[in-house]
Amino acid sequence: MSDPWQECMDHCIEVTKKAGKMIRDALQKDIAIMQKSSPVDLVTETDQRVEQLIISSIKEKYPTHSFIGEESVAAGSPSVLTDDPTWIIDPIDGTTNFVHRFPFVAVSIGFTVKKEIEFGIVYSCIEDKMYTARKGKGAFCNGVPIKVSGQEDITKSLVLTETGFKSNPEHFKTMTANITAILSIPVHGIRSPGSAAVNMCLVACGSADAYYHMGIHCWDMAGGAAIVTEAGGVIMDISGGPFDLMSRRLIVASSRAVAERLVREIIEFDVGRDDQ
Ligand code: IPD
Repeated sequence: MSDPWQECMDHCIEVTKKAGKMIRDALQKDIAIMQKSSPVDLVTETDQRVEQLIISSIKEKYPTHSFIGEESVAAGSPSVLTDDPTWIIDPIDGTTNFVHRFPFVAVSIGFTVKKEIEFGIVYSCIEDKMYTARKGKGAFCNGVPIKVSGQEDITKSLVLTETGFKSNPEHFKTMTANITAILSIPVHGIRSPGSAAVNMCLVACGSADAYYHMGIHCWDMAGGAAIVTEAGGVIMDISGGPFDLMSRRLIVASSRAVAERLVREIIEFDVGRDDQ
């Protein structure tokens, strides 16, 4: 039986390559920075232009499909996942990295049908690494199959997380307490590359063994979730329950044992949902 979504995925890869080139070109020029929800929640004209490029080129081919895009939501579009074929887009995942020219900057796109992720594309465009995954067909980086490390021992694991500004002091305390608890297990180390999508791809290709985060968005997670799952990784909610794309939180890991060990250490805080 032919694959109804393969053509969408092929188109997505082509659009993503163009978006990546636009980002690389923008890095050669001055970058004008604007603030969103806080002094450290940044957006640039490039985020907005890249999202427009992606959405217009997909809409032209698939006019009935739905979209959830980081910058469109910031401008007031709804962030609700329906059963429709839906493109979930982060034009620049790692905007802070982009403004500092820190080299982990990705275009991230996930495609869902009936709320299930069918494929994911993450293009780490400075590294020129194109990660792709189609449900049931494996994960690839620049066309070469990738898989997680398979590490089952947390004490031999490299763990990724991100450490953004928190307006609530209790959230700050919990975030740093979680880091202390995980480092005390002990683990080999904690790293913060600055792009959720890249973090998931690093776990997918075995360069890191786990990644956890509370407070990200569906557009940060959708592309990478497909890639890490197809690379043989485990993805779950921070509580150990099933992963929920709209929940703003996740753990991904090389094995269930590592993910569940992190669940035991992590104290949750309320980050709300993308669809509320
Ligand atoms: C951000 C990155 C970062 C994470 C932030 C996200 P953006 O995405 O994924 O790693 O710490 O929470 O918002 O805003 O650069 O698309």
